Amino acid sequence: MTESVNLAGVIGYPIAHSRSPVLHAHWLARYGIKGHYVPLLVNSADLRQTLELLPRLGFRGVNVTLPHKEAVLEIADFVTDNASLIGAANTLTFTADGRIQADNTDGSGFLENVRHGAPAWVPGAGPAMVLGAGGAARAVITALLGAGVPKVKVTNRTKGRAEALRAHFGAQIEVIDWVKASESLNGINILINTTSLGMTGKPELKISLDHLPPNATVTDIVYAPLRTELLKQAERKGHVTVDGLGMLLHQAAPGFERWFDRRPEVDEALRQAVLNA
Ligand code: ATR
Repeated sequence: MTESVNLAGVIGYPIAHSRSPVLHAHWLARYGIKGHYVPLLVNSADLRQTLELLPRLGFRGVNVTLPHKEAVLEIADFVTDNASLIGAANTLTFTADGRIQADNTDGSGFLENVRHGAPAWVPGAGPAMVLGAGGAARAVITALLGAGVPKVKVTNRTKGRAEALRAHFGAQIEVIDWVKASESLNGINILINTTSLGMTGKPELKISLDHLPPNATVTDIVYAPLRTELLKQAERKGHVTVDGLGMLLHQAAPGFERWFDRRPEVDEALRQAVLNA
């Protein structure tokens, strides 16, 4: 056996719902790469040992999902600036000697998705409004500020979490009361839902877009359903909208490139493969 077969995967608990294996399998088949990307059900007690063992089994790296995105930072040997700013990692790459680099591509995936879906959006042209203050909000805010958005208004059901983001990111963050979200949309250049509201099986996101300027971009990180009520409402009002599936696809590309040595394309065929799964 002289052929090398690269291995990668995704670790989480639960893991069966993850679409990452389908996505990477599509790229592996498309580029004719001999490799495998597998879902790995790993509980917190086994996390450290698993990450020590995987490189020895031939794994080049793994994606990380709930509940391990924060815990892996303490296990990693190197943490990128992005992962440390966000306070979580989603992409681990193993060096030849088994050391672990932890990176976070959620923010860049978000940004790539918006840049593709709303090419006319100019980050520096005006403030953003972020709904939610969880891990996804942190990644999105890191990306927005890095791209040159001058100010980010953050609103969250639990106000203390939004205030924690202001403490973390500083004066560019303005905390808005959850009940005042709709009336605070004046002058907003891009609106992003990072909460789980609007997801299949979750309550609806109740927000009025009446105060949102007509040229504002509206995006949702929820992708099941693909067209959330927020995006439908925005479309009816003539806004440019960007669905959340693209963020999932774009955040996966850097890992694939590192583990399988080929920069993959995010295109319609990939979207369909993931949607059909
Ligand atoms: P993630 O890491 O994916 O962002 P999370 O940390 O659990 O996940 O955050 C989920 C977000 O959805 C939070 O902003 C949460 O608000 P709270 O901080 O108040 O929990 C928001 N969210 C979830 N269910 C909600 C609901 N029924 N109403 C309002 N916000 C909700």
